[in-house]
Amino acid sequence: MQSAPIKFERFQSENDDACQERILSAIDKLGDRLVILGHHYQHEGVYRHADFTGDSLKLSRYAAGSDAEYIVFLGVHFMAEVADILSRPDQVAILPDMAAGCSMADMANLAKVERCRRELSEHYDFDQTFTPVTYINSAADLKAFCGEHGGIVCTSSNATKIAEWAFNQREKILFFPDQHLGRWTGYKMGIPLDEMMVWDPDLPLGGLTKEEIDKAKILLWKGHCSVHQMFQPQHIAKFREQYPEGKVIAHPECTFEVCRQSDYVGSTEFILKTVSESAPGTRWLVGTELNLVNRLAERMKPEGKVVQFMSPLVCECSTMARIDPQHLAWTLENLASGNVVNRIHVAPDEAELAKLTLDRMLAVS
Ligand code: 13P
Ligand code: SF4
Repeated sequence: MQSAPIKFERFQSENDDACQERILSAIDKLGDRLVILGHHYQHEGVYRHADFTGDSLKLSRYAAGSDAEYIVFLGVHFMAEVADILSRPDQVAILPDMAAGCSMADMANLAKVERCRRELSEHYDFDQTFTPVTYINSAADLKAFCGEHGGIVCTSSNATKIAEWAFNQREKILFFPDQHLGRWTGYKMGIPLDEMMVWDPDLPLGGLTKEEIDKAKILLWKGHCSVHQMFQPQHIAKFREQYPEGKVIAHPECTFEVCRQSDYVGSTEFILKTVSESAPGTRWLVGTELNLVNRLAERMKPEGKVVQFMSPLVCECSTMARIDPQHLAWTLENLASGNVVNRIHVAPDEAELAKLTLDRMLAVS
Protein backbone atom coordinates (compact mmCIF):
# COMPACT_ATOMS: atom_id res chain seq x y z
CA MET A 1 0.00 0.00 0.00
CA GLN A 2 1.35 3.43 -0.94
CA SER A 3 1.86 6.14 1.70
CA ALA A 4 3.35 9.65 1.43
CA PRO A 5 7.11 9.74 0.62
CA ILE A 6 9.32 9.56 3.69
CA LYS A 7 11.56 12.61 4.12
CA PHE A 8 15.33 12.11 4.26
CA GLU A 9 15.56 14.15 7.49
CA ARG A 10 14.09 11.14 9.33
CA PHE A 11 17.19 9.10 8.42
CA GLN A 12 19.87 11.76 8.92
CA SER A 13 20.31 11.10 12.63
CA GLU A 14 19.91 7.30 12.40
CA ASN A 15 23.10 5.43 13.24
CA ASP A 16 24.68 3.03 10.74
CA ASP A 17 23.55 -0.14 12.57
CA ALA A 18 19.92 0.94 12.59
CA CYS A 19 20.19 1.82 8.89
CA GLN A 20 21.65 -1.62 8.11
CA GLU A 21 18.58 -3.27 9.60
CA ARG A 22 16.23 -1.00 7.72
CA ILE A 23 18.10 -1.66 4.45
CA LEU A 24 17.87 -5.45 4.93
CA SER A 25 14.18 -5.32 5.73
CA ALA A 26 13.39 -3.16 2.65
CA ILE A 27 15.48 -5.46 0.41
CA ASP A 28 13.47 -8.38 1.77
CA LYS A 29 10.17 -6.64 1.00
CA LEU A 30 11.19 -5.65 -2.52
CA GLY A 31 12.51 -9.10 -3.52
CA ASP A 32 13.03 -9.59 -7.28
CA ARG A 33 11.63 -6.16 -8.07
CA LEU A 34 14.97 -4.68 -6.98
CA VAL A 35 18.56 -5.02 -8.15
CA ILE A 36 21.41 -3.15 -6.46
CA LEU A 37 24.53 -2.45 -8.54
CA GLY A 38 27.68 -1.36 -6.69
CA HIS A 39 30.89 0.21 -7.95
CA HIS A 40 34.15 -0.93 -6.32
CA TYR A 41 34.82 2.53 -4.80
CA GLN A 42 31.77 2.33 -2.55
CA HIS A 43 32.05 2.18 1.24
CA GLU A 44 31.68 -1.26 2.76
CA GLY A 45 28.53 -0.09 4.60
CA VAL A 46 26.61 0.02 1.31
CA TYR A 47 28.80 -2.12 -0.99
CA ARG A 48 27.88 -5.22 1.05
CA HIS A 49 24.27 -4.86 -0.16
CA ALA A 50 25.13 -4.90 -3.87
CA ASP A 51 23.73 -7.85 -5.86
CA PHE A 52 26.42 -7.23 -8.45
CA THR A 53 29.69 -5.29 -8.22
CA GLY A 54 32.03 -4.23 -10.97
CA ASP A 55 33.84 -1.57 -12.97
CA SER A 56 31.88 0.75 -15.26
CA LEU A 57 31.80 -1.70 -18.17
CA LYS A 58 30.67 -4.69 -16.12
CA LEU A 59 27.99 -2.65 -14.36
CA SER A 60 26.72 -1.31 -17.71
CA ARG A 61 26.26 -4.89 -18.88
CA TYR A 62 24.36 -5.80 -15.69
CA ALA A 63 22.11 -2.76 -16.14
CA ALA A 64 21.43 -3.70 -19.77
CA GLY A 65 20.59 -7.30 -18.84
CA SER A 66 18.58 -6.79 -15.65
CA ASP A 67 14.86 -7.53 -15.45
CA ALA A 68 14.29 -5.75 -12.13
CA GLU A 69 11.74 -2.95 -11.89
CA TYR A 70 14.12 -0.82 -9.77
CA ILE A 71 17.88 -0.50 -10.46
CA VAL A 72 19.49 1.19 -7.45
CA PHE A 73 23.00 2.38 -8.28
CA LEU A 74 25.67 2.59 -5.61
CA GLY A 75 28.00 4.81 -7.61
CA VAL A 76 27.93 8.25 -9.21
CA HIS A 77 25.51 10.14 -11.44
CA PHE A 78 26.84 9.16 -14.88
CA MET A 79 26.65 5.47 -13.89
CA ALA A 80 22.98 5.74 -12.96
CA GLU A 81 22.34 7.62 -16.23
CA VAL A 82 23.92 4.75 -18.16
CA ALA A 83 21.69 2.30 -16.26
CA ASP A 84 18.63 4.37 -17.23
CA ILE A 85 19.69 4.58 -20.89
CA LEU A 86 20.48 0.87 -21.23
CA SER A 87 17.47 -0.47 -19.33
CA ARG A 88 13.88 -0.73 -20.63
CA PRO A 89 11.62 2.36 -20.39
CA ASP A 90 9.48 0.67 -17.72
CA GLN A 91 12.50 0.15 -15.44
CA VAL A 92 13.55 2.85 -12.99
CA ALA A 93 17.17 3.84 -12.26
CA ILE A 94 17.81 5.39 -8.86
CA LEU A 95 20.81 7.16 -7.29
CA PRO A 96 20.46 7.30 -3.48
CA ASP A 97 22.11 10.75 -3.26
CA MET A 98 21.71 13.14 -6.20
CA ALA A 99 24.86 14.99 -5.11
CA ALA A 100 27.01 11.95 -5.96
CA GLY A 101 28.57 13.35 -9.14
CA CYS A 102 32.00 12.89 -10.73
CA SER A 103 34.28 15.95 -10.76
CA MET A 104 36.11 14.65 -13.82
CA ALA A 105 32.85 14.23 -15.76
CA ASP A 106 32.06 17.87 -14.94
CA MET A 107 35.27 19.03 -16.65
CA ALA A 108 33.60 18.69 -20.05
CA ASN A 109 30.14 19.96 -20.91
CA LEU A 110 28.11 20.14 -24.09
CA ALA A 111 28.57 23.90 -24.60
CA LYS A 112 32.37 23.54 -24.48
CA VAL A 113 32.48 20.42 -26.64
CA GLU A 114 30.18 22.09 -29.22
CA ARG A 115 32.48 25.14 -29.21
CA CYS A 116 35.44 22.83 -29.79
CA ARG A 117 33.62 21.23 -32.75
CA ARG A 118 32.76 24.67 -34.19
CA GLU A 119 36.36 25.85 -33.89
CA LEU A 120 37.73 22.68 -35.46
CA SER A 121 35.10 22.96 -38.21
CA GLU A 122 36.66 26.26 -39.32
CA HIS A 123 39.71 24.27 -40.45
CA TYR A 124 38.49 20.70 -41.03
CA ASP A 125 35.37 18.79 -42.03
CA PHE A 126 34.79 17.68 -38.43
CA ASP A 127 32.61 14.66 -39.20
CA GLN A 128 35.07 13.40 -41.82
CA THR A 129 38.24 14.00 -39.76
CA PHE A 130 37.48 13.37 -36.08
CA THR A 131 35.84 10.48 -34.25
CA PRO A 132 34.62 11.85 -30.91
CA VAL A 133 35.27 9.37 -28.09
CA THR A 134 33.84 10.08 -24.67
CA TYR A 135 34.97 8.29 -21.54
CA ILE A 136 31.90 6.80 -19.84
CA ASN A 137 32.62 9.30 -17.03
CA SER A 138 30.61 12.00 -18.81
CA ALA A 139 27.07 13.35 -18.89
CA ALA A 140 24.43 11.77 -21.15
CA ASP A 141 24.35 14.81 -23.49
CA LEU A 142 28.03 14.24 -24.33
CA LYS A 143 27.31 10.61 -25.13
CA ALA A 144 24.46 11.90 -27.33
CA PHE A 145 26.94 14.29 -29.01
CA CYS A 146 29.08 11.27 -29.89
CA GLY A 147 25.98 9.50 -31.21
CA GLU A 148 25.22 12.46 -33.47
CA HIS A 149 28.78 12.69 -34.81
CA GLY A 150 29.60 9.03 -35.47
CA GLY A 151 31.48 8.62 -32.18
CA ILE A 152 31.54 6.14 -29.34
CA VAL A 153 31.86 5.69 -25.56
CA CYS A 154 34.78 3.93 -23.85
CA THR A 155 35.59 2.75 -20.34
CA SER A 156 38.93 2.16 -18.65
CA SER A 157 38.74 -1.51 -19.59
CA ASN A 158 38.00 -1.28 -23.32
CA ALA A 159 39.68 2.02 -24.33
CA THR A 160 42.23 0.41 -26.69
CA LYS A 161 39.64 -1.58 -28.63
CA ILE A 162 37.43 1.48 -28.83
CA ALA A 163 40.29 3.68 -30.06
CA GLU A 164 41.10 1.09 -32.76
CA TRP A 165 37.45 1.23 -33.82
CA ALA A 166 37.57 5.03 -33.81
CA PHE A 167 40.70 5.15 -36.01
CA ASN A 168 38.99 2.79 -38.45
CA GLN A 169 36.29 5.43 -38.91
CA ARG A 170 38.40 8.63 -39.24
CA GLU A 171 42.05 9.70 -39.08
CA LYS A 172 41.88 11.57 -35.72
CA ILE A 173 40.22 11.17 -32.31
CA LEU A 174 38.78 13.90 -30.12
CA PHE A 175 38.94 12.31 -26.65
CA PHE A 176 37.16 13.73 -23.60
CA PRO A 177 37.12 14.38 -20.67
CA ASP A 178 40.13 12.44 -19.25
CA GLN A 179 43.44 13.37 -20.86
CA HIS A 180 45.29 10.67 -18.90
CA LEU A 181 43.20 7.72 -20.07
CA GLY A 182 43.37 9.09 -23.63
CA ARG A 183 47.15 9.53 -23.53
CA TRP A 184 47.81 6.13 -21.98
CA THR A 185 45.57 4.46 -24.57
CA GLY A 186 47.33 6.22 -27.45
CA TYR A 187 50.77 5.41 -26.01
CA LYS A 188 49.90 1.71 -25.78
CA MET A 189 48.87 1.82 -29.44
CA GLY A 190 52.30 3.22 -30.35
CA ILE A 191 51.27 6.84 -30.96
CA PRO A 192 54.17 9.24 -30.16
CA LEU A 193 53.50 11.66 -27.30
CA ASP A 194 53.93 14.68 -29.58
CA GLU A 195 51.05 13.42 -31.73
CA MET A 196 48.68 13.64 -28.75
CA MET A 197 47.97 17.29 -27.99
CA VAL A 198 46.03 18.70 -25.04
CA TRP A 199 42.95 20.71 -26.02
CA ASP A 200 42.35 23.44 -23.43
CA PRO A 201 38.62 24.27 -23.74
CA ASP A 202 39.17 27.72 -22.22
CA LEU A 203 41.58 28.89 -24.94
CA PRO A 204 40.87 29.78 -28.59
CA LEU A 205 41.45 26.70 -30.77
CA GLY A 206 42.24 24.78 -27.60
CA GLY A 207 45.50 26.72 -27.19
CA LEU A 208 46.92 24.88 -30.24
CA THR A 209 48.24 25.95 -33.61
CA LYS A 210 46.75 24.62 -36.84
CA GLU A 211 50.08 22.81 -37.47
CA GLU A 212 49.89 21.07 -34.08
CA ILE A 213 46.36 19.90 -34.82
CA ASP A 214 47.37 18.76 -38.32
CA LYS A 215 50.08 16.60 -36.77
CA ALA A 216 47.97 15.28 -33.88
CA LYS A 217 46.40 11.81 -34.01
CA ILE A 218 44.51 12.41 -30.74
CA LEU A 219 43.26 15.65 -29.21
CA LEU A 220 43.10 15.13 -25.43
CA TRP A 221 40.57 17.21 -23.53
CA LYS A 222 42.17 19.03 -20.59
CA GLY A 223 40.40 17.05 -17.84
CA HIS A 224 41.54 14.75 -15.07
CA CYS A 225 40.45 12.90 -11.93
CA SER A 226 41.46 14.76 -8.80
CA VAL A 227 41.67 11.49 -6.82
CA HIS A 228 44.07 9.78 -9.24
CA GLN A 229 46.18 12.96 -9.61
CA MET A 230 47.35 12.36 -6.04
CA PHE A 231 49.50 9.38 -6.99
CA GLN A 232 53.06 10.36 -7.88
CA PRO A 233 56.04 8.62 -9.54
CA GLN A 234 58.08 9.21 -6.35
CA HIS A 235 55.62 7.03 -4.41
CA ILE A 236 56.46 4.19 -6.79
CA ALA A 237 60.22 4.90 -6.59
CA LYS A 238 60.14 4.74 -2.79
CA PHE A 239 58.19 1.47 -2.82
CA ARG A 240 60.58 -0.11 -5.33
CA GLU A 241 63.56 0.94 -3.21
CA GLN A 242 62.02 -0.66 -0.09
CA TYR A 243 60.54 -3.71 -1.79
CA PRO A 244 62.35 -4.48 -5.05
CA GLU A 245 60.32 -7.68 -5.45
CA GLY A 246 56.99 -5.81 -5.02
CA LYS A 247 54.51 -5.20 -7.85
CA VAL A 248 52.86 -1.92 -8.81
CA ILE A 249 49.38 -1.64 -10.32
CA ALA A 250 47.52 1.55 -11.25
CA HIS A 251 44.29 2.81 -12.78
CA PRO A 252 44.70 4.53 -16.20
CA GLU A 253 43.25 7.76 -14.77
CA CYS A 254 46.67 8.19 -13.08
CA THR A 255 49.19 10.48 -14.76
CA PHE A 256 51.27 9.18 -17.65
CA GLU A 257 54.45 8.82 -15.54
CA VAL A 258 52.63 6.81 -12.86
CA CYS A 259 51.17 4.49 -15.53
CA ARG A 260 54.54 4.14 -17.27
CA GLN A 261 56.28 3.19 -14.04
CA SER A 262 53.62 0.66 -13.00
CA ASP A 263 53.89 -3.06 -13.78
CA TYR A 264 50.19 -3.24 -14.63
CA VAL A 265 47.58 -0.65 -15.60
CA GLY A 266 43.85 -1.31 -15.82
CA SER A 267 40.30 -0.82 -14.64
CA THR A 268 39.11 -1.36 -11.08
CA GLU A 269 37.90 -4.86 -12.01
CA PHE A 270 41.28 -5.62 -13.61
CA ILE A 271 43.10 -4.44 -10.48
CA LEU A 272 40.97 -6.67 -8.23
CA LYS A 273 41.39 -9.68 -10.52
CA THR A 274 45.15 -9.27 -11.00
CA VAL A 275 45.92 -8.92 -7.29
CA SER A 276 43.46 -11.69 -6.32
CA GLU A 277 45.03 -14.12 -8.79
CA SER A 278 48.66 -13.33 -7.82
CA ALA A 279 50.81 -15.80 -5.90
CA PRO A 280 50.46 -16.01 -2.11
CA GLY A 281 52.91 -13.75 -0.28
CA THR A 282 53.06 -11.12 -3.07
CA ARG A 283 53.36 -7.44 -2.09
CA TRP A 284 51.41 -4.82 -4.07
CA LEU A 285 51.36 -1.05 -4.37
CA VAL A 286 47.96 0.02 -5.73
CA GLY A 287 47.14 3.38 -7.34
CA THR A 288 43.40 3.76 -7.18
CA GLU A 289 40.66 4.88 -4.78
CA LEU A 290 41.08 4.13 -1.07
CA ASN A 291 37.90 2.10 -0.40
CA LEU A 292 38.81 -0.41 -3.09
CA VAL A 293 42.40 -0.69 -1.81
CA ASN A 294 41.38 -1.10 1.85
CA ARG A 295 38.84 -3.81 1.00
CA LEU A 296 41.35 -5.62 -1.22
CA ALA A 297 44.03 -5.43 1.50
CA GLU A 298 41.66 -7.08 3.99
CA ARG A 299 40.62 -9.78 1.53
CA MET A 300 44.22 -10.63 0.64
CA LYS A 301 45.51 -10.90 4.23
CA PRO A 302 44.61 -14.60 4.70
CA GLU A 303 46.75 -15.41 1.61
CA GLY A 304 49.70 -13.54 3.08
CA LYS A 305 49.52 -10.84 0.39
CA VAL A 306 50.30 -7.27 1.39
CA VAL A 307 48.36 -4.56 -0.42
CA GLN A 308 49.51 -0.95 0.07
CA PHE A 309 47.85 2.29 -0.98
CA MET A 310 50.03 4.30 -3.39
CA SER A 311 49.77 7.70 -1.73
CA PRO A 312 50.81 8.68 1.82
CA LEU A 313 47.71 10.95 1.80
CA VAL A 314 44.14 9.75 2.18
CA CYS A 315 42.53 10.10 -1.23
CA GLU A 316 38.95 9.01 -1.25
CA CYS A 317 36.43 9.84 -3.95
CA SER A 318 34.30 12.21 -1.90
CA THR A 319 31.36 12.04 -4.29
CA MET A 320 31.28 8.23 -4.34
CA ALA A 321 31.29 8.44 -0.52
CA ARG A 322 28.01 10.36 -0.52
CA ILE A 323 26.14 7.08 -0.93
CA ASP A 324 25.94 6.11 2.73
CA PRO A 325 23.69 3.70 4.69
CA GLN A 326 21.36 6.61 5.58
CA HIS A 327 20.68 7.48 1.92
CA LEU A 328 20.36 3.84 0.91
CA ALA A 329 17.92 3.08 3.76
CA TRP A 330 15.85 6.16 2.86
CA THR A 331 15.73 5.22 -0.84
CA LEU A 332 14.81 1.57 -0.25
CA GLU A 333 12.17 2.24 2.41
CA ASN A 334 10.49 4.66 0.04
CA LEU A 335 10.55 2.08 -2.75
CA ALA A 336 9.14 -0.57 -0.42
CA SER A 337 6.25 1.78 0.40
CA GLY A 338 5.60 2.49 -3.28
CA ASN A 339 7.40 5.85 -3.60
CA VAL A 340 10.20 6.39 -6.10
CA VAL A 341 12.74 8.94 -4.88
CA ASN A 342 15.87 10.16 -6.70
CA ARG A 343 14.96 8.73 -10.08
CA ILE A 344 17.58 9.36 -12.77
CA HIS A 345 15.76 9.89 -16.03
CA VAL A 346 17.49 10.95 -19.23
CA ALA A 347 15.30 12.83 -21.74
CA PRO A 348 14.18 10.35 -24.48
CA ASP A 349 15.76 12.18 -27.48
CA GLU A 350 19.10 12.44 -25.66
CA ALA A 351 18.82 8.86 -24.39
CA GLU A 352 18.24 7.52 -27.90
CA LEU A 353 21.47 9.03 -29.26
CA ALA A 354 23.43 8.13 -26.12
CA LYS A 355 22.16 4.54 -26.34
CA LEU A 356 23.48 4.31 -29.90
CA THR A 357 27.02 5.00 -28.68
CA LEU A 358 26.72 2.75 -25.63
CA ASP A 359 25.38 -0.14 -27.73
CA ARG A 360 28.23 0.47 -30.17
CA MET A 361 30.67 0.30 -27.26
CA LEU A 362 29.16 -2.94 -25.91
CA ALA A 363 29.32 -4.50 -29.38
CA VAL A 364 32.96 -3.46 -29.95
CA SER A 365 34.12 -4.61 -26.50
P1 13P B 1 36.33 1.76 -13.60
O1 13P B 1 35.45 1.66 -14.81
O2 13P B 1 37.71 1.23 -13.84
O3 13P B 1 35.69 1.12 -12.43
O4 13P B 1 36.57 3.30 -13.28
C1 13P B 1 35.54 4.17 -12.91
C2 13P B 1 36.06 5.35 -12.25
O5 13P B 1 35.36 6.32 -12.05
C3 13P B 1 37.44 5.37 -11.84
O6 13P B 1 37.74 6.56 -11.22
FE1 SF4 C 1 35.09 10.58 -10.93
FE2 SF4 C 1 37.61 10.36 -10.06
FE3 SF4 C 1 35.57 9.78 -8.44
FE4 SF4 C 1 36.17 8.15 -10.50
S1 SF4 C 1 37.43 8.59 -8.69
S2 SF4 C 1 34.10 8.86 -9.90
S3 SF4 C 1 36.81 9.68 -12.02
S4 SF4 C 1 36.05 11.81 -9.33
